Amino acid sequence: MSIHINQDSREFHLFNEHVSYIFRVLEKSNQLEHLYFGKRIKHRESFKHLVEREVRPSCNMFEGDHTSSLEHIKQEYPSFGTTDYRFPAHMITNKIGSQITNYQYHSFEIIPGKPKLPNLPATYVENDDEAETLEITLIDDVLKSKLILSYTIYKDRNVICRNAKFINEGEEPFYINNAMSTSIDLPDDQYEMLHLAGAWAREAHVESQKISKGIQSIYSARGASSHAHNPFLALKRLNATEHDGEVYGFSLVYSGNFLGQVEVDTYGATRVMMGINPFQFKWRLKPAEIFQTPECVIVYSDQGLNGMSQTYHNLYRTRLARGDWRDRERPILINNWEATYFGFNEEKILTIAKTARELGIELFVLDDGWFGQRNDDTSSLGDWFENKEKLPNGIKGLSEKIDELGMQFGLWFEPEMVCKDTKLFKEHPDWIIATPDRRTSHGRNQFVLDFSREEVVDHIFSLMDKIISESKISYIKWDMNRYITEAYSQSLDVDQQGEVYHRYILGVYNLYEKLIEKYPEILFESCAGGGARFDPGLLFYAPQAWASDDTDAVERLKIQYGTSMVYPLSSIGSHVSAVPNHQVGRITPLETRANVAYFGTFGYELDITKLSEEEKAAVKEQTSFFKEKRQLIQNGRFYRLLNPFESNEVSWMVVSEDQREALVGYYKVLARPNDKYYRIKLRGLDPDKLYSIEGKETTHYGDELMNIGIVLAEDYTDRASEYWQREKEGDFSSKLFILKEV
Ligand code: DGJ
Repeated sequence: MSIHINQDSREFHLFNEHVSYIFRVLEKSNQLEHLYFGKRIKHRESFKHLVEREVRPSCNMFEGDHTSSLEHIKQEYPSFGTTDYRFPAHMITNKIGSQITNYQYHSFEIIPGKPKLPNLPATYVENDDEAETLEITLIDDVLKSKLILSYTIYKDRNVICRNAKFINEGEEPFYINNAMSTSIDLPDDQYEMLHLAGAWAREAHVESQKISKGIQSIYSARGASSHAHNPFLALKRLNATEHDGEVYGFSLVYSGNFLGQVEVDTYGATRVMMGINPFQFKWRLKPAEIFQTPECVIVYSDQGLNGMSQTYHNLYRTRLARGDWRDRERPILINNWEATYFGFNEEKILTIAKTARELGIELFVLDDGWFGQRNDDTSSLGDWFENKEKLPNGIKGLSEKIDELGMQFGLWFEPEMVCKDTKLFKEHPDWIIATPDRRTSHGRNQFVLDFSREEVVDHIFSLMDKIISESKISYIKWDMNRYITEAYSQSLDVDQQGEVYHRYILGVYNLYEKLIEKYPEILFESCAGGGARFDPGLLFYAPQAWASDDTDAVERLKIQYGTSMVYPLSSIGSHVSAVPNHQVGRITPLETRANVAYFGTFGYELDITKLSEEEKAAVKEQTSFFKEKRQLIQNGRFYRLLNPFESNEVSWMVVSEDQREALVGYYKVLARPNDKYYRIKLRGLDPDKLYSIEGKETTHYGDELMNIGIVLAEDYTDRASEYWQREKEGDFSSKLFILKEV
């Protein structure tokens, strides 16, 4: 890994074994020109020959110079209004109302390792020799402002991490209307844009289309990263596949309103940018203040989408997730939500927990409904004290009883919300996000606390702290079930109301940080009505996230497949639930439900006491199977094999780092009569290693399994001669293949 600087030509080349990222300072204007990002190339004394200048009819920066139009220059962090007409990476309004900026190169600094981002989540290093960071300082003399662009290159990852920082060095405040985390101008437009779109209960559905002239974007203006779009997009070459070809991934380490945008200009250059959504954003920056953007993690893969995903998985699992639980085996949990909803009492909870314990489950999670008068979703959020009718011994008493059973105990909170019937609301009606003199819309009968205010965050911390400190709690599920409306904060000035959404998310991060600091041993799982905040920002605080409220195994194939584009299996909350499934009414085999849920943080979400003896025996086998395999699943390399968005069969697998072990999941959604022959070609094995497949007599070399595949058809040679006598697998069937080096 290295950062080379060609002093004479003022060029910067960040490279490691995998990637090269090159830009330079423009001769006359001192702005930054992007030259290349992609597969590693050799360093040269000069990259001047990469500069492309065409004479085109356009406005130019310098008189007598017809090639100084920024519209035709690939840039690093473009501005608007000085010959570039495309969407800019930043926009600032100064005291005279002008929006023209001109940040010019001033200096650079190379920092070993990777500096932390104040109050924001970000990837990190454990030792400074893991990465190097290049900080470029630019100055706008008129605005009296510094802009620092930061680029981190890791030693052995095909990743560039970028962020930007604005400093007001003048005497007057100015307003930031747009501050992207990254912007990059690629030289052509032969890409598809792939992203994860969805809605409640069908998150992370993979969408992909060829990009075309103009703007195509994904965004959130909901106050959370949202069910609708994940803060991620990839540009993939038209011929790139899961495992081959070039892909650029852009992933924003942020949980609030974001924009991911691709703009193809009239000459086919492609500008990709990602950052806080400029819509509804306006930040007042007073003299001496700093505005820090979130981080964008950019991956270059020449091994297709799966190569990109593996880079994100490893980075996010080991250098974004933090704390005690980062590397620890995650407990198998049982959550009572779909088992009881709001209708439970201590006795019922203990019966579920006891049975669960007998079947090998390790953690009991008490979900919504344990506090205030919460017997449905119309009341009590904010009254974070036990409902003594349901729990006469309180959370303390219950957690101790669960502890006596030999289980860990986890608790649900929805810290950011309040219902109007609560003590909290009655005491602080002005603590909600609401616009004066306007109606305040509700979502699920609840209102959003103004987390942009420190005293609100502190108060919620003290309420949670009381419960946590007096009970035996080893896990917290932090939920968030509505988006923000009528965004306005009573605590901010009139000219700061465009700061509400960002300050809100900073408040969320702040509360997480306080809790983590005081309770480092607690495992946090983030949740937002399922996966509405399944984003890298929250992975910094909570190493796992509930992927969706849809627990149907077939729906989950798509949701988990899509989620795996960016997020590691160690982060994907997935549970076995009851049938008929509560979201879609589908009846799937218990075995298939488990075979899907294994590929994530495994758990159950059903009334386990209602299972038959045969089903209980199956659950017992499942939990012991998962315990045996969870190291592999949490830490192995994940490969997507067959795509649920394209076919009736789905397959994925995980391979241990040493390639001695692998687990393959294969799912067939609908049964088909008299079907074709099926084979699944595996990935990531050692071609020269000999593997056994549990339950099969023959052994196979890795090369055979990867090039020919596992032959799925059963050999009927010596069995029934009639089709009618053949065993039928039925709909929603699945198989697991357990591979071990012989
Ligand atoms: C939405 C979550 O996604 C569910 O798992 C559950 O916790 C409910 N909220 C409780 O209200």
